Amino acid sequence: MKDSHIETIRVSTKNGKYGIVVGRGILDAAFEEVLSTYKEHKIAIITDSNVEKIYGNQINRKLVNNPRIFILSFKAGEESKNRKVKEQLEDRLFSLGCSRDTVIVAFGGGVTGDLSGFVAATYMRGVPFIQIPTTLLSQVDSSIGGKVGVDHPTGKNLIGAFYPPEKVYIDIDLLNTLPREELINGIAEIIKASIIKDKTLFEYLEKNIEKVINLEDKFIENAIISSLKVKAKVVELDEKESGLRKILNFGHTIGHAIELLSDFKIPHGRAVGIGMVVETLISEKIDLLNSKDKDRILKLIDKSELLVSPFKFSPDEIIKKTILDKKSRKGVVEYSLVKGIGDAVYGINVEDKIIKESLLEAGFE
Ligand SMILES: NC(=O)c1ccc[n+]([C@@H]2O[C@H](COP(=O)([O-])OP(=O)(O)OC[C@H]3O[C@@H](n4cnc5c(N)ncnc54)[C@H](O)[C@@H]3O)[C@@H](O)[C@H]2O)c1
Ligand SMILES: [Zn+2]
Repeated sequence: MKDSHIETIRVSTKNGKYGIVVGRGILDAAFEEVLSTYKEHKIAIITDSNVEKIYGNQINRKLVNNPRIFILSFKAGEESKNRKVKEQLEDRLFSLGCSRDTVIVAFGGGVTGDLSGFVAATYMRGVPFIQIPTTLLSQVDSSIGGKVGVDHPTGKNLIGAFYPPEKVYIDIDLLNTLPREELINGIAEIIKASIIKDKTLFEYLEKNIEKVINLEDKFIENAIISSLKVKAKVVELDEKESGLRKILNFGHTIGHAIELLSDFKIPHGRAVGIGMVVETLISEKIDLLNSKDKDRILKLIDKSELLVSPFKFSPDEIIKKTILDKKSRKGVVEYSLVKGIGDAVYGINVEDKIIKESLLEAGFE
C-alpha cells in the first residue's frame, strides 16, 4: 500500500501473526488487497446499518459487479451483538453459498468486529477474518487482540472465542464521519493505554489532547499508533489474559459496573473514564501511587471531556455490581491499578472501605 500508508505494526502470538496497517484513505486499497490475497475465495463484508449508509456506495462502486463479493448488514448498535443476529448472518452466508472458501471482513465499529469475528471463528469451524475498524474505539482497541464474541442477557461478552484476524486495516480518514460522542468514547482507551504503559504518550496527551479529539493530522495519528503499540505488546506477551493482559482492565472494574447499572445508557468509554478516576483514587489511597501523579491523571481525564455527571448510583450498588462481574474470582474482585504514570499492576484486592471512600471522593453519593 503506497502513499497513504503510514505504518504497519506487527502482532505475533501463539494463535496468529498479523499486520496492522495504519494509513489515510486506504479503504479502497485495503479491499483490493483482500481481493488479490484471497483470489479463490468469496468475500463476505459484514457491516452495520449506519456504516453501510455512509460507506456502502463507495464499496459498491468498487466491488458491486464482482460475483465473489457480498455485503451483509445488521442493525447498528450493541443490541445486535447477540446470538440471534449471529445466527441470521450465518443463515445468510449459507444461502449465498458460502463455504470454507469464504473470507469474512468486519467493516464497522467494535460491535461489528466482535460479532463478525465470532461468526468467522465458528463458521465451517473457522474461516479467515479481516478487520477494517471504523470507530476510534475499534481502531485503538477492539480490532486487535483476537477477542470476539456476543453478549448475553446475563452480561456483556459472555459467549465468545479468541480468534485473531489475518490482517487489520486502519483508515484514519474513516473517523471524519464519526459523531463526536463516539470519538470521545474512544479517547478513554487511548488515555488508558498511556496510563498503564506509555509515559511518553501520557505526556503527549497532556499537551495535545484537544488536538487529538479534534482529529488534527499528526496528533490523532500519533495517538492511535502509540495506543495500538501498547495493546499489541500486551497481547503478544499474554494473549489469553492469564496475567499481564489484565492491566488493560484498568478503569474497567468500576467502569463495567457503571455501564451495567446504567443499562448501557452510559457508553463504554465514558464509563471507563469514570472508572479510571475512581481506580486512580484507590491507587493513591492504598499508597501505590503518589499524589502528584494522581493529580496529573485526574487532570488529563478531566480535559478529555469524558466525564458526565451527576453520578446517580450509590457506592454500595456499584461495589455489589463489581462482585457479579465475570472477572471476579469466587466473589473476590481483582483490580488493575496504577503505580505511576506508565506503570500498572494487576490482581490487587481492595477493601470495600477504600473503594467506597474513593467512589465518594469521585462524586458518587
Ligand atoms: N474485542 C475486544 O477486545 C473489545 C475491546 C473493547 C471493546 N469491545 C467491544 O466494542 C463494542 C463497542 O465498540 P464501538 O464503540 O466501536 O461501538 P459500535 O460498533 O456500536 O459503533 C458505535 C457507533 O458508531 C457508528 N459508526 C461506526 N463507524 C462509523 C463511522 N466511521 N462514521 C459514522 N458512524 C460510525 C456505528 O454504527 C455505531 O452507531 C462493545 O461491544 C465492546 O464490548 C471489544
Ligand atoms: Zn474498554
